[in-house]
Amino acid sequence: MLAVTCPRDRLLPSEDLGASWRAVRPRPPGIHLDSAASSRQSHRALEAAAHHARHESELGGYVAEATADDLLQQGRSVLGGLVGMAAADVAFVESAQAALVALLSGWRLPAGSRVACLPGEYAPNVAQLRAAGLRPEPLPVDDLGRADVDAVARLLADAPPRFVHLTHIGSHRGLLQPARETAALCREAGVPLVLDAAQSLGHVDVDLGADVVYGTSRKWLAGPRGVGILFARPAIAAQLVPVLPEPEGVPPLRAFESGEAHVAGRIGLVVAVGEHLAAGPDQVRERLAALGRATRELLDGVAGWQVVEPVEEPTATTTLRAPDGVDVLETRTRLLTEHGIVLSAIGPERAPGEMTSPVLRVSPHLDATIEDLEALAAAL
Ligand SMILES: Cc1ncc(COP(=O)(O)O)c(C=O)c1O
Repeated sequence: MLAVTCPRDRLLPSEDLGASWRAVRPRPPGIHLDSAASSRQSHRALEAAAHHARHESELGGYVAEATADDLLQQGRSVLGGLVGMAAADVAFVESAQAALVALLSGWRLPAGSRVACLPGEYAPNVAQLRAAGLRPEPLPVDDLGRADVDAVARLLADAPPRFVHLTHIGSHRGLLQPARETAALCREAGVPLVLDAAQSLGHVDVDLGADVVYGTSRKWLAGPRGVGILFARPAIAAQLVPVLPEPEGVPPLRAFESGEAHVAGRIGLVVAVGEHLAAGPDQVRERLAALGRATRELLDGVAGWQVVEPVEEPTATTTLRAPDGVDVLETRTRLLTEHGIVLSAIGPERAPGEMTSPVLRVSPHLDATIEDLEALAAAL
């Protein structure tokens, strides 16, 4: 393993992994620090999707899809492995939101059922829970917005909700929630845990014992856009009622895969997840966490910008509060147009239960270097 020294004597692990991740994908024209929005695909993932699209043109869409059956099934198996589930527990959908909608529409829980979720829950998730007739109620959290495990245990004992919905890493904050501990408590209490892993699949360990997990291809797994994944253990899948059931012998969860789909995108994701496994998920997590730490160390206090997350938080996502009088959206635009730096401005509407002002979100993937982060600091 190669390592370089970063400012304040920090070591960035697995420089070889960063270099190989960079080498196998198109060269960006600037500095991409926006994987929490959408990452950069590899040549192989792009080519696999393009190859399938060409196949559709040659053979017809349905014949081409049939030829990809085995590959897609291997993909379900490998993806399931990331969350400790089997191929039969996996359904390809179109996005993380589509996965949540599929789950809620199939579950058909009684109107008014209580669902515990973080006060800083991703607003579109809260909207989907409400649209399904459910009643979101806050999970107890500390000052930072991290679930308070002891208080969660008390909630589960005193007034158990119909299920707990936990967003593992937020869209608006690079905070890692205690999902393993929450899963254990939920299991003990007989309350299902639904884990939103949109920001955590391919980023941190997601094999934690949740009953349902859902996520997306385009962020930390670096697959194509337009593909999401729903994972549900058999006990939950058995409670889901699809509009049209699958024929005998087909896993019931498959009924939640849309028949009409961007199959080429699913194939691109299967290739991307294979690359993730080949890189070594432990090493990937270690380098991403180190990049997050280096980002926070380098940026906190620069030109008055303040890092929100604890420096040691084991994620690659950092958010920054603006100094007085500085507009976050304008800064994001200026960084893009004048410096070629891609990152996101996140408004409070993303998580209105927790955010009071916008933040600038920096989310480097494995290829980022200390020089990239220094360039951002200089541009700020
Ligand atoms: C925490 C979280 N949940 C859910 C989603 C929704 O994902 P998608 O856009 O794939 O529906 C996002 C997207 O940014 C997210 O950050």
